[in-house]
Amino acid sequence: MAVCNQEANFSCKKIFLPTSPIKVGHIDDVQELRKAKPTTIPERFVRDMTERPTLAITLPSLSEIPSINFSSLVNGNKDDCQNEILQLARACEDWGFFQVINHGIDLSLLESIEELAKNFFMLPLEEKQKYPMAPGTVQGYGQAFVFSEDQKLDWCNMFALGIEPHYIRNPKLWPIQPPKFCETVEVYSREVRKLCQNLLKYIAITLGLKADIFEEMFGVAVQAIRMNYYPPCSRPDLVLGLSPHSDGSALTVLQQGKGSSVGLQIFKDNKWVPVQPIPNALVINIGDTLEVLTNGKYKSVEHRAVTHKEKDRLSIVNFYAPSYEIELGPMPELVDENNPCKYRRYTHGEYNKHYVTNKLQGKKTLEFAKIKSKTSTE
Ligand code: OGA
Ligand code: NI
Repeated sequence: MAVCNQEANFSCKKIFLPTSPIKVGHIDDVQELRKAKPTTIPERFVRDMTERPTLAITLPSLSEIPSINFSSLVNGNKDDCQNEILQLARACEDWGFFQVINHGIDLSLLESIEELAKNFFMLPLEEKQKYPMAPGTVQGYGQAFVFSEDQKLDWCNMFALGIEPHYIRNPKLWPIQPPKFCETVEVYSREVRKLCQNLLKYIAITLGLKADIFEEMFGVAVQAIRMNYYPPCSRPDLVLGLSPHSDGSALTVLQQGKGSSVGLQIFKDNKWVPVQPIPNALVINIGDTLEVLTNGKYKSVEHRAVTHKEKDRLSIVNFYAPSYEIELGPMPELVDENNPCKYRRYTHGEYNKHYVTNKLQGKKTLEFAKIKSKTSTE
């Protein structure tokens, strides 16, 4: 299998060499590694001491991320709705993460996408490698955000596709196997898009802004889907499923596979807090773009994924962000003498380019937008 992998890498390099001088070295496919059951974890996956997950720390249930009842926001009476808006404001301000229950997306659709994603990852490697993620790019099957031969690798296989606007799609990467994959991704993405648009309306309300502000600002929003498959790992204490990062999006919607191990963790008050899956709920988080637009009132919180000794894990993630030509910067309503402007202006396209050409490294990517004042401690 290692040979196949190298061939595929080699052919990618051949195709992309003129435009992509990035040398990423040999990248083992983690599912194939798992099948081979090596007695030791290859060095490239073994994290430095400071990065290793300390798995023993599980926090009391008090530290669970908040949940928001979407149907109370949309269909609740005035009191319920106002109460839920308050909860949403707290969730955005104190956590940057929440789980949405009663989100209105058909449970059968959640089940279908999960089933198809799993079936895709279970295809033979040769089949998946028909859709390779070229070094330095973020669509297709493989490992994203790898830019050097010595960079540590995540214990994860990814499959990612650009969804909207259509021009970001690479039709060659849309798989023919498993059957119905593409149609289901399309329907699912449309539903998630509506949910993002609705959530952004309520988020605007929590900020005292008019409900349509984001919709009007974003233009034809950019949307991408990424499926992450984390096989079990014999040494979960040494590896990371996904390196710590914040998302570049405005909002991210994450579906955790049923029966998956607990793996997503968010960095809060200097601790990694696990996100306990709630059946049929979707995990929402604030991305860098909303942090900038709200001048840091709502933060894009750093998160990572860890692996499990026996259980695998699947997540399906949708990123929702403004159109690339949209100029971003703190909204004037959120800047005053007590809250001086913390971020400069730039287009979302510039930020996206910066984001996808750097490795995941906590919140470092957002340095791009920060105004560095001498008195600032952040
Ligand atoms: C992501 C992400 C976490 C997970 O894809 O950006 O944070 O649990 N995924 O898969
Ligand atoms: Ni993320």
